[in-house]
Amino acid sequence: MKLWYSPASPFVRKCLILAHERGLADRIETLDANANVVSPDQRIVASNPTGKIPTMVLDDGTVLFDSRVICAYLDTLHDGKKLMPRSGAKRFEVMTLEAMGDGIMDAAVNNRYELALRPEEYRWPAWSEGQMGKVMASLDQIEAKWTRALGRNPNMGSIAIAAALGYLDFRYKDLNWRRGRPKLTRWFRAFSQRPSFVASSPE
Ligand code: BEZ
Repeated sequence: MKLWYSPASPFVRKCLILAHERGLADRIETLDANANVVSPDQRIVASNPTGKIPTMVLDDGTVLFDSRVICAYLDTLHDGKKLMPRSGAKRFEVMTLEAMGDGIMDAAVNNRYELALRPEEYRWPAWSEGQMGKVMASLDQIEAKWTRALGRNPNMGSIAIAAALGYLDFRYKDLNWRRGRPKLTRWFRAFSQRPSFVASSPE
């Protein structure tokens, strides 16, 4: 299977962390995307009209996107413990945590585009503050309510949160998100040492 990819994308990283956790990474051929909101990579658009990464193309030509769908598919390919619980309250807890991680990544990536791509005269500081406000409010809620759900063994929610925090460290080095969030800091320190996280690093 092929994965349209950029090492900087936290959504790609989320898929790769899962793949490494469950011994699937060798089965994925990564294809360097030339993705950009303004001029999408037409090779990706041919499969996925949104032009977004990650986009996965299976050996039979089936196309999968976005990261949630790709991760759900990868989770069917191994015999280990499923990263998304199959049923019960835990399933919806993990799904919500994954949505929170994806929401943090969406806001942080949108703001990155604003700051790195949008011509300076068109920038809108209140919009940037709104995006980063979503990031910080999510981190506050994780610190207050979700550290037990993050757990010691990875699940699809904790993988999404780790990918999101990794992106903040990569693109927002001065954000200092750890300040006032000791439980999340401790959890992330342990997750950061996992081989899956190290192998998928953008740096
Ligand atoms: C980035 O450079 O920050 C980035 C690249 C691709 C997707 C998302 C983010």
